[in-house]
Amino acid sequence: MSLSSEFVVVANRLPVDRVPGTGTGEGASWRRSPGGLVSAIAPVMRRREGTWVGWHGAPDEVLMPFETDGMKLVPVPQSSEDVELYYEGFSNATLWPLYHDVVAPPVYSREMWDAYVRVNERFAKAAARVASQGAIVWVQDYQLQLVPAMLRRLRPDLRIGFFLHIPFPPLELFWQMPWRRQILEGLLGADLVGFQLPGAASNFVRLCRRLLDARYNKQDVFWDDRVVRARAFPISVDVGELNDLIARPSVRERAEEIRTDLGDTTILLGVDRLDYTKGITQRLEAFGELFGDGHLKPGEAVLVQIATPSRERVEQYQLLRDQIEQQVGRINGEYGEIGFPVVHYMHTSYTRDELAALYLAADVMVVTPLRDGMNLVAKEYVACRADLRGTLVLSEFAGAAAELKRAYQVNPYDIDGLKDTLLMALNAEPAEQARRMRAMRKRVIEHDVDRWARDFLSSLEEPNSPSGPPLQ
Ligand code: ADP
Ligand code: F6P
Repeated sequence: MSLSSEFVVVANRLPVDRVPGTGTGEGASWRRSPGGLVSAIAPVMRRREGTWVGWHGAPDEVLMPFETDGMKLVPVPQSSEDVELYYEGFSNATLWPLYHDVVAPPVYSREMWDAYVRVNERFAKAAARVASQGAIVWVQDYQLQLVPAMLRRLRPDLRIGFFLHIPFPPLELFWQMPWRRQILEGLLGADLVGFQLPGAASNFVRLCRRLLDARYNKQDVFWDDRVVRARAFPISVDVGELNDLIARPSVRERAEEIRTDLGDTTILLGVDRLDYTKGITQRLEAFGELFGDGHLKPGEAVLVQIATPSRERVEQYQLLRDQIEQQVGRINGEYGEIGFPVVHYMHTSYTRDELAALYLAADVMVVTPLRDGMNLVAKEYVACRADLRGTLVLSEFAGAAAELKRAYQVNPYDIDGLKDTLLMALNAEPAEQARRMRAMRKRVIEHDVDRWARDFLSSLEEPNSPSGPPLQ
């Protein structure tokens, strides 16, 4: 297999999962990971015989490159120490909370920063080895912000794109970062830096001006005799895949079964990684209070909360799990009755079929992050409701709120507002549900993940002519 490619994706994780029970090391079998990013990029990978550079998920294991599902994969090893300091540490205990409005305090550790630099260097070198002359390299997300500049130093011939899947903070927050200059300079190694929202691109340009004294024009930054474009490309979901899922008789039967199992009741649904940015505790508090206030009675409505285990060795995630599990216990203890729990809480990951069935069964989808780059769950729910039924309660602080204007939008910090909004969504007439759902579906169907990938890549392939001369 020739690893040299004219299209290379670099991401912290490879787009495959090991099939359980098929062994470790070279003998293992792999299958494509679920998720929009992989399904959007897979066709481009096949067309351009692309290579994906990323970690395969097991610490201290060195694997040779391999091929799965028409994609060439180059595993980048991470030691246990790298996982602790680079992945759990700088990526998820420093950058993640800082970029999500410091909803948890970021940890600033020099040891973690050193690991971040070291692992980014390893990814950059791996990408430099496999990219053919003049190749397109697309670097993904906050774990790899130094890769663009490192890669440009190694391979100035490449066309480099970077996409940040999470929010990019305003100057006032980013300023805290002890290595703020290095991170900006790392990103400026790209030709095109993509963000979820125009506001994030503006934050980036403003920081380049203020911190690096860079010249700029609108969303172009003049840096090192090059023009770096900062643009918004809101990510979306794989509408085709979800359409196929909801058309399956097994999925429809499962949705009916879920409704029957839960009894004749209104179903509210939350589906999140168990993460403190997702506003799960606020959601539970508001929902519980509706029973305390007498607005709802046990048996009238139930909240199904699916929380996927995530980053379980990071302290803030452990604290959150304890908090949520106590809260669920308290709400059920206080308001539930025999045969009528108020909250069904599952701490597990589900298949795409099961998720689609849950979306079809849910009357109200509750998405209440305190800050979220986009939130694909909200768009998945809309994509699955071809029947125009169901309502979406959506936080104003999710990137998706900019597009899903007909959702019942809410400030999740305002518990009374959240309660009122939940009641409105619960009581929406079918005609009102359909009116809102139709408008949201139009947006999601027209702007699916395939379009996102095409828009980003065609913009990356355009020459970088600035929108005008520098203003400063
Ligand atoms: P984030 O990227 O922060 O996890 P998103 O909402 O943007 O949040 O994306 C989450 C993705 O993970 C969605 O595609 C969703 O379907 C999937 N997902 C979330 N919870 C589960 C779960 N319990 N089981 C399987 N997939 C899940
Ligand atoms: O969207 C943010 C993100 O961190 C992605 O980069 C990642 O694929 C996903 O959430 C899950 O996170 P993790 O790789 O830490 O399990």
